[in-house]
Amino acid sequence: MQVAIIGTGYVGLTTGVCLAFIGHQVCCLDTDEAKIRALKAGKIPIYEPNLSELLEEASPNLRFTSSYAEAIPSAEIIFIAVGTPPTPSGAPNLEYLSQAARSIGQHGAAGFKVVVNKSTVPIGSGNWVGSLLREACEGREAGTSPEFAVASNPEFLREGSALHDSLYPDRIVIGADETRALEVLYSLYRPILDQTFSAPTYLPRPDTVYAVPLVSTDLASAELIKYAANAFLALKISFINEMGLLAERVGANITEVARGIGLDSRIGPRFLSAGIGWGGSCFGKDTAALIATASEYGLNLPIVEAARKLNSRQRDRVVEKLLHELKILKGRTIGLLGLAFKPNTDDLRESPAVEIAQKLVDRGVRVRAHDPIAVERFHREHAGMPVQTCENVCETAEGCDALVLVTEWSEYRDLDWEAIAKKMRTPVILDGRHFLDRDKLARAGMRYLAIS
Ligand code: UDX
Repeated sequence: MQVAIIGTGYVGLTTGVCLAFIGHQVCCLDTDEAKIRALKAGKIPIYEPNLSELLEEASPNLRFTSSYAEAIPSAEIIFIAVGTPPTPSGAPNLEYLSQAARSIGQHGAAGFKVVVNKSTVPIGSGNWVGSLLREACEGREAGTSPEFAVASNPEFLREGSALHDSLYPDRIVIGADETRALEVLYSLYRPILDQTFSAPTYLPRPDTVYAVPLVSTDLASAELIKYAANAFLALKISFINEMGLLAERVGANITEVARGIGLDSRIGPRFLSAGIGWGGSCFGKDTAALIATASEYGLNLPIVEAARKLNSRQRDRVVEKLLHELKILKGRTIGLLGLAFKPNTDDLRESPAVEIAQKLVDRGVRVRAHDPIAVERFHREHAGMPVQTCENVCETAEGCDALVLVTEWSEYRDLDWEAIAKKMRTPVILDGRHFLDRDKLARAGMRYLAIS
């Protein structure tokens, strides 16, 4: 099938590459010409494991352009995957979405076209995009206007495992009020639904994946599924963090508690890792947007609100723990291990590390930091922040009063902790992710603290 994708961020690029890989003809469009030039030269603007390999394999079916006139007329399916960054009120900024819809309306050729919202957009956006498309077509000569149907196809991909999540998803959700649109999307995703494509060697098909469930529903339900899924995951994390607070008081081990409840198949083991809480571009933005949408309907969402409050309190607890341990923070040196919001990405959006660094700087702490891949991006995006970045963990530890493990990069598990302890002024480590081996650290002479 002929597919156009508007926006080459995480979602758009991953979707485009995967659809091209399974055999569709895909044209990816971005209005950022420098990005398109780089992509044409095979350079990937984001860090995502295996994306460059898959892009190379899919390249015979993949084109990149900045021109709507080139991407849209031949496309049968057009995905909108542009950014919807949060505004101060919590509601997402829909400017890029409306620009994309208008441009699609202006350039669409005659015939039936499905326009798919892949960006996370407020409930009701499908109808709104439909009206923008129709407006943009007004005044065109009779018989030249396309017949648009709008669909929602939310993504559930996690940064760092975006390709795996796209090729072997837990489910595919499609929503539209027109059956024809659902049929087109079903044909598009058939190779993934039936798992008939040959798996790349570097992304083998998991033994448990034979076929992927399809949820085919109406537009509003598909839109709400995305928000409800992210809100539920976010509150699952906040719930275990709330239990962590209590566990600390009563002398329970929160990792054991999470294991004990997660083995109940009604609860499930994932997203129960206690620690400094969630970050990233989705959970914060989507829970805020959900609350904003609900308030337009005169509703409060107290559970979602509580999950957000608790998440922000987890960052404060890092500072409280350090203050309790070191008594005075002003003039201290503290090293952060990890800057990215989670491992296997260089994304710093709503990264706990950045928030914690700012809180420490505000209290007069000298902050040093290490990250295996996000340092360059940190300097680009937080140029004014007085944080000294280091080449490795040993260098970061030099003269530190404490280290804080913020991002659980696998390479932090097996470090020479004895050597690191010797570099520090006081060998204290606060494990923000319940990730390190407490006994091993104690043997290396480190005082181990956890954030429960
Ligand atoms: C998320 C959703 O998982 C994905 O389905 C959605 O479409 C986009 O948002 P992502 O933001 O890439 O994906 O990251 P995710 O792996 O979900 O982690 C989010 C944050 O939660 C990270 O900061 C992570 O460290 C934290 N987290 C995750 C926990 O604190 N505890 C956990 O148990 C799991």
